[in-house]
Parts: sequence; structure tokens; C-alpha cells
Amino acid sequence: MTAPAVHNPGGDRSAPAEALVYTTLVPVISLGGHFGKLPSTAAAGRFVPLPPIFLNDPRNMLDWTVHAGPMRRRQAEGAERAPAEPIEVPRWLDEVRAMRGRVLHAGGRRPQFFDAATQRCYDTQPHDLQAWHIVARLNGQIVGCVRCAPLGTSDSPLAAILGHEQLNQIVASLGATPEQCSEVSRWTVDPECGMIGLGYDLIAAVWAFLADSGFRFGLAAAGTAGKQDRILHQLGLRYLEGVEDRWSATFDDTLRFMYAPFEQPVEKLEPGLADMRQRLRQASD
Ligand SMILES: CC(C)(COP(=O)(O)OP(=O)(O)OC[C@H]1O[C@@H](n2cnc3c(N)ncnc32)[C@H](O)[C@@H]1OP(=O)(O)O)[C@@H](O)C(=O)NCCC(=O)NCCS
Repeated sequence: MTAPAVHNPGGDRSAPAEALVYTTLVPVISLGGHFGKLPSTAAAGRFVPLPPIFLNDPRNMLDWTVHAGPMRRRQAEGAERAPAEPIEVPRWLDEVRAMRGRVLHAGGRRPQFFDAATQRCYDTQPHDLQAWHIVARLNGQIVGCVRCAPLGTSDSPLAAILGHEQLNQIVASLGATPEQCSEVSRWTVDPECGMIGLGYDLIAAVWAFLADSGFRFGLAAAGTAGKQDRILHQLGLRYLEGVEDRWSATFDDTLRFMYAPFEQPVEKLEPGLADMRQRLRQASD
């Protein structure tokens, strides 16, 4: 498999099977600057030699999982209604929300992502329960995630911003039905693992997952201040012409509306799609 040159100066990102086994047996705890929050090998008093393939690209060490939120799981199992009792938040979702909260709080730029009651950054959204979550973990710790759900689910963030009528118009303008569209949101990477291609991998993962699940289009509201819309455009998302940008006080940012045509990935994304089709696994919880 040929890996994208921009993200992979070291070569092929698909690790050989024996190398993957190696990572599960040996807790590799220092990879230099990108993972500075992990204890250094020196501090731990030992040195773990890494096979060159991991030194070339630490993303080879990531574990990729698709989790279904509790309501999405219930629907897949055939339950039609929400349970009468409150839905318990599974541990993986609590960890996702904590990671998103830390990133989105952005050192105080978005104060609402700090929960005064628990004194920690946290990002709670009821939509989480309805969605699939693609989660990247490094040594068990969540370092990246993205969320997606069929259009029309309750608590839809896109419907809350645009309204159902405009959303339906957008779907019709794509020549699609609502059932063929998924919304994608909360694309988030831990800054200590930023700029190494993990954001790219998350887009490849969600693209592969949704395309293989039968969706034709993904719809998203992208931030502009950090040029996320331009990054997404490079990865194959297109601007929704005729849909005006909206200011979001929650994100302290102007949001731009975009769509991903799953049948037409750009060349830059294709190696990532092939890679993610091999690496994504479904969570059993
Ligand atoms: C946006 C985000 C997910 C990108 O993740 P990342 O892992 O750093 O991105 P990658 O390393 O995969 O980079 C992908 C591309 O974006 C570029 N890029 C990433 N961050 C960038 C930044 N802050 N400014 C400019 N370009 C940037 C990279 O150079 C790369 O482009 P290239 O392929 O031409 O080299 C991450 O910065 C983030 O979590 N931001 C905060 C949350 C957020 O705003 N989410 C988006 C909501 S729309």
C-alpha cells in the first residue's frame, strides 16, 4: 500500500503483524515531542527500543475503534423507544467527552466547556447517545475522535443550527434523500498529537465507515478561524454554495457548511481510506 507522502515521510504506514503484536506486549511510553504528556523512558528508568517503522510514524501505534452510542446501539438491536430509566453514559463516552472538552475549552477561549460542578473540562451533548464515535487511542488513551449520525436523529446539532427546512433543502440540492446523508461533527485531536496526520486519519476513517455503511453524503459545519474548513476542503469536502456562514457563540467562531461526497474521494484521501478499512474495528460494548 502506498501511504500519502505528506503525512508519511517514513514510508508504508501499515505495520507488519509481528510489529503490531510487539506494541501490545511492550508499553512504549516515549516518542518525543508529540507525546510529551506521557512519562519519558528516562523517567521510567528503562529504554524500550522501537522498531524503525514506529519511529517513522507513531500513528502506526494507534488503535482505531467505532463505538455506537447507547441509543444507536439500542436501535441497531431493534428497540424503538428510549428506555424509561436514564441512560447510563459508558466509560468510553465519558472519556471522549473529557478529551473533547479539554480541546474545545482551548485554554479558556470557550469557557462553556468547563464544568464548574466537577471542576473539569467536559463536552456533554445528548446527540452523543445517538451517534457513532470513531476513536483513536494511543496506549489506551484517547487522542482523537469524530462523531457521525444519520440525519434526522433527535438532538441533531446541524438541525439546531440550520433548522429542518434548510437541512431538507440542502439534501434535495445534493440529489439525495435524508436517509443517504449523515452528519459529522466534533472532529477533535489532542493538541499534543496535533499536526502529525491524525486529523487526516480521522477524516479517512469516518469517510470509509460511512461510505461502507451505505451513506452517500456527509454534512458538516466547519470552523473557519483555525482554517478547519480549508483543511477539510483539501481532504475532499466541498462547500455548500448558497448556505450562509453562521456565527457560533459556543465555538467563538464562524461556521461554514460543507459536504463530503463519499462516492468521490480526492486522491489525497485514498491511501487513508484503504488503510482505515483495514484498521477500524467495531467495539463490542
Ligand atoms: C482540526 C484538527 C482536528 C486537525 O487535527 P491534526 O491532527 O492536527 O491535523 P493533521 O495533522 O491531520 O493535518 C491535516 C492537514 O491540516 C493541516 N493543519 C492541521 N492543523 C492546522 C492548523 N492549525 N493550521 C493550518 N493547517 C493545519 C496540516 O498541515 C495538514 O495539511 P497537509 O496535509 O497539507 O500537511 C485539530 O487541530 C483540532 O482538534 N482542532 C480543535 C477542534 C476543532 O476545531 N475541530 C474542528 C471542528 S470543524
